[in-house]
Amino acid sequence: MWAPGYDRSPRSSMSESPSTASNTEPVSSTAYRDCLRHLAGGVSIVTTKHGDITHGMTASAVVSVSAEPPLVAVVIDRGHSINPLLEGDDACFAVSILAEEQRELADRFAFLKDGDRFLRGTWEHAETGSPVLADSLAWLDCRVSARQPAGSHTIFVGSVVASQVRRPDVSPLLYWNRAYRALSAD
Ligand SMILES: Cc1cc2nc3c(=O)[nH]c(=O)nc-3n(C[C@H](O)[C@H](O)[C@H](O)COP(=O)(O)O)c2cc1C
Repeated sequence: MWAPGYDRSPRSSMSESPSTASNTEPVSSTAYRDCLRHLAGGVSIVTTKHGDITHGMTASAVVSVSAEPPLVAVVIDRGHSINPLLEGDDACFAVSILAEEQRELADRFAFLKDGDRFLRGTWEHAETGSPVLADSLAWLDCRVSARQPAGSHTIFVGSVVASQVRRPDVSPLLYWNRAYRALSAD
C-alpha cells in the first residue's frame, strides 16, 4: 500500500552502489522507493461520484497523458476504497490540484478513515458529478476511458470533459522526499 513517509527502510547515502537487476529479477522494492522518493510531484485530490456515493483521496501519481485528445491518468493502489467506484461504463473522476497552503486537506484525504473527508473545504460538482475543490489551483473532470492493471496499482485513464483554472498565480503543493514542500523563490 502507498504510504508516504511511512517507509522505514534505511535511507541511502549519496554514493550508494547502484542497485542492479539481472535479466529476470527486478530491483528490490526498497531500492525502487529510495529512487522514486526523489521524484517531486504535485499533490491533488482525486474524487468520484458513483450513484449516491462520493469519495476522494489524495494522489501524487497524476499524469498528463495527451492533449489531443485530452487525457489524464491517475495511478491508484488496488486496495484503496475508490477502486470499485471507478468500474463501470459511466465511471468518472475529477482531479483538484492543491495549492501550497492546502496540506491539511491533503492529509485529511489521505489519512482520515472514519468520517466525511468532504466536511473540510468548499466543494462543487463538476459536469460528471464528481466533486471539485472550489479553491484548488485548477481542476479536471474526466470520464474513465481505460484501465490498466500495473503491479499493485491500476492506471485509470480519464478523458477530460471539463476543466477550469481557478488560481493561476498561486504556488502548488509539492511532495518530495517523504514530505510536503513548497516551491522556493527563483
Ligand atoms: C502526498 C500523498 C500522495 C499520495 N498519492 C497517492 C497516489 O498517487 N496513489 C495512491 O494510490 N495513493 C496515494 N496516496 C495514499 C492515499 O491518499 C491514501 O492511502 C488514502 O487513504 C486512500 O484512500 P482510502 O482510505 O479511501 O482507501 C497518497 C498519499 C499522500 C499523503
